[in-house]
Amino acid sequence: MRSVLITGGAGFIGSNFVHYWLAKYPEDRVVCLDALTYAGNLASLAGIAESANYRFVHGDICDTPLIEQLLREERIDHIVHFAAESHVDRSITGPDAFIQTNITGTHSLLKAAKGYWLGGEEGAPKEFLFHHVSTDEVYGTLGPNDPPFTETTPYAPNSPYAASKASSDHLVRAYHHTYGLPTTISNCSNNYGPYQFPEKLIPLMFIHILEGKNLPIYGDGKNIRDWLYVEDHCRGIDLVMEKGRRGECYNIGGINEWTNIDIVTLLCREVDKRLAANPELAARFPNTPINQGRNAESLITYVKDRAGHDWRYAIDPTRSNEELGYKPVESFETGIQRTLDWYFDNEAWWRQVMDGSYRDWIDANYGDSRGLLGL
Ligand code: NAD
Ligand code: TYD
Repeated sequence: MRSVLITGGAGFIGSNFVHYWLAKYPEDRVVCLDALTYAGNLASLAGIAESANYRFVHGDICDTPLIEQLLREERIDHIVHFAAESHVDRSITGPDAFIQTNITGTHSLLKAAKGYWLGGEEGAPKEFLFHHVSTDEVYGTLGPNDPPFTETTPYAPNSPYAASKASSDHLVRAYHHTYGLPTTISNCSNNYGPYQFPEKLIPLMFIHILEGKNLPIYGDGKNIRDWLYVEDHCRGIDLVMEKGRRGECYNIGGINEWTNIDIVTLLCREVDKRLAANPELAARFPNTPINQGRNAESLITYVKDRAGHDWRYAIDPTRSNEELGYKPVESFETGIQRTLDWYFDNEAWWRQVMDGSYRDWIDANYGDSRGLLGL
């Protein structure tokens, strides 16, 4: 039985990972630590809060004494580190939080893990691992004919978000090389799927279609991203933790490059098709274009480009494939259908996030409190 600390477990990928891990390893103890920023949502963990093997802790990864206390109290032997500020646009308008959480916060975790695991303390676990969840954005941008990113592509981060993640990757590497901390890093491409905060491309466009709002395409819409269904990311992390060489990085991706405009057009057509086939469903969304005699593509609006907008990301997953046997199981076609199903079935989840009622609830229940608030 492992005792696993999952940071950022109330966020998009973290919550999917908590669900994945508890289902796959029900004998493990899972401690989920999350500061519940705007992107953290306890509703994404609904149904598992009361499980005997599960504890939620409301707290900040920058709070080193809290981390040290948790590691000892729970005899943590695995840390899976998702907590981060994750949205590129927010990093452009307000980089400070990215430096604080992504760099200082990661260092706080590394320092606490080193102290507990390598400090020779009686009762501390003998086998342990720090897994750091990172992104392909650390490698910068690709031209149309460049080969995809490999693990040896030089780091060239272009946004404050990417730079803060690159810094955290370097700190993880340094803690392995200098102190011998067992670490692994995964660098993944763009994820999509359930529980994604509707500031990111796919859920934002989906909800705007339903509400009849403009679909803002940055620049000419020809930027390319490499999309992976979130559960396939979770499977990849699991494999890296199990089989990955300590001190190494593994790229995770599904060889699935799409231009933004093609993704948005696909979403428009899929949503229109579903609503046309299901008048009851369509009636739930009076402002969606199909109810006004138009199609969803009529909402597409080209807007000013993002500053420093990376043109193309693409992952070469050869290492994870050959060393770990990693392969995604979800195709893009099925993954998009599952995602649409989830967002149609979970309107209350995204309405709560969009209208701020969830934030009101958090403020009322947690205020600014930090520390060990078990749920
Ligand atoms: P997210 O923004 O949805 O969730 C981040 C979570 O971290 C939230 O629950 C938030 O409350 C929590 N958090 C933020 N600051 C914290 C702090 N100081 N202390 C404790 N918790 C804090 O992000 P996501 O999309 O789920 O991404 C998770 C990780 O995966 C990030 O490290 C990100 O860089 C990486 N990643 C994301 C993608 C993607 O496509 N979303 C792709 C590759 C890698
Ligand atoms: P995003 O989901 O923010 O992920 P990232 O920037 O980390 O790749 O954006 C994905 C792509 O979609 C990116 O090229 C920016 C673009 N985009 C838009 O064109 N319009 C939007 O409203 C958003 C949120 C993103």
